[in-house]
Amino acid sequence: MSNCLVCDHPIDSFLSFGNMPIANHLPMPKHFRNEFRAELAVGFCPGCYMVQLTNLVEQEHLYNDEYAFFSGSSKGMSKHFQEFAEFIMQHYLPTDDSFVVEVGSNDGILLQHMAKRNIKHLGIEPSANVANIATKRGVESLVEFFNVTTAEKVKQTHGQADAILGANVICHIPDIHSVAKSVKALLKPNGVFVFEAPYIANTIRKTAFDQIYDEHAFFFGVHSVVNCFSRHGLELVDVMERNVHGGSMRYVLAHKGAHEVTSKVKQLLVLEDHLGLLKIETYQDFAKSAEKSRDQLKQLITGLREQGKKIVGYAATAKSATVINYCGLTPEHIKYISDTTPAKQGRYSPGAHIPIKPYEIFKQDKPDYAILFAWNHADEIMAKEKNFIKRGGKWIVFVPEVAIVENVKQ
Ligand code: TMP
Ligand code: ZN
Repeated sequence: MSNCLVCDHPIDSFLSFGNMPIANHLPMPKHFRNEFRAELAVGFCPGCYMVQLTNLVEQEHLYNDEYAFFSGSSKGMSKHFQEFAEFIMQHYLPTDDSFVVEVGSNDGILLQHMAKRNIKHLGIEPSANVANIATKRGVESLVEFFNVTTAEKVKQTHGQADAILGANVICHIPDIHSVAKSVKALLKPNGVFVFEAPYIANTIRKTAFDQIYDEHAFFFGVHSVVNCFSRHGLELVDVMERNVHGGSMRYVLAHKGAHEVTSKVKQLLVLEDHLGLLKIETYQDFAKSAEKSRDQLKQLITGLREQGKKIVGYAATAKSATVINYCGLTPEHIKYISDTTPAKQGRYSPGAHIPIKPYEIFKQDKPDYAILFAWNHADEIMAKEKNFIKRGGKWIVFVPEVAIVENVKQ
């Protein structure tokens, strides 16, 4: 049994996926034989309510030059990051010499908006390949992990920050206490620490078991965020729901007492209690639903293949690595996965080794079914795939439940 990364209480494990490959490393045939695998399992801490991975893969295995995630790979996310940037600039960067730091700035999709307006900024990003793209966009980037040493260094070179941001990245850092200490050191007395992450309430409600993969060390909720950061004198002052990454929450934190706490924080604390997010039984039910989804999806796909139907995957997301390997799907089931990201094309899906092909192939091809792995981008995808449906194609979905449909709502 492992102990909680936040409060050291023993964790109640509720779901194991078995040995899984690295979700964001897309191998070439020469890598197939030595592909790294580790157990993927999640648990709930009854001490602080944090849902978390119980077996962590070393960061160096996850974030290196093989890292295949590019934040700017959809129109929906570009729009979202523009809104996020506007929100921060309007509310939290008050003066001409305001300074904003982003943790895990990836390809600069967020900070580019600050860079364009000549706002002092710095992205801290450990993966050099994506940081180089940011630099080309005019975003100042430091290739480092975010920790106390880096925070002190930035404080020396740039001064303290008015806002420290994290978009879908704080949940990736197992040493969350180091994050909190680094924020404490780098944040101005009246500054804010604003981060976004998939919201546990949505993951549970939608049986979105594919949100669980090696990078997501934490599945935050309002209770667990409060419990985690209050230990370090950081107070949760506001929360906002956002319809990205399958249903996210934006958390605004500040030094204790520096900002007023909104009523929305209290409302969500009550709601989470009503939803059962503070007891293990809820997570055990989620595990049963995930197992049911797995069996139904495998059965559905196997049945369609027996009828000779052609099935492809739509979008080689990190989430799809969990679904594909958990369900035991192979290139026999899924002919290929279409993806618009050039760096992913010509590579293979982790573990199952399903070929990843350019989107143009999908458009010319006439598959009977496409499994929607990027269900979090459903609105954008439905709008552009009307032809696929017109010529008789159908979507296979598994969130919130396994079904064959012609239209998917985000
Ligand atoms: P994400 O869900 O982790 O943001 O990953 C999105 C992936 O989906 C990325 O590899 C690009 C791919 N994608 C497509 O192939 N077609 C699309 O229309 C969209 C929106 C994404
Ligand atoms: Zn705990």
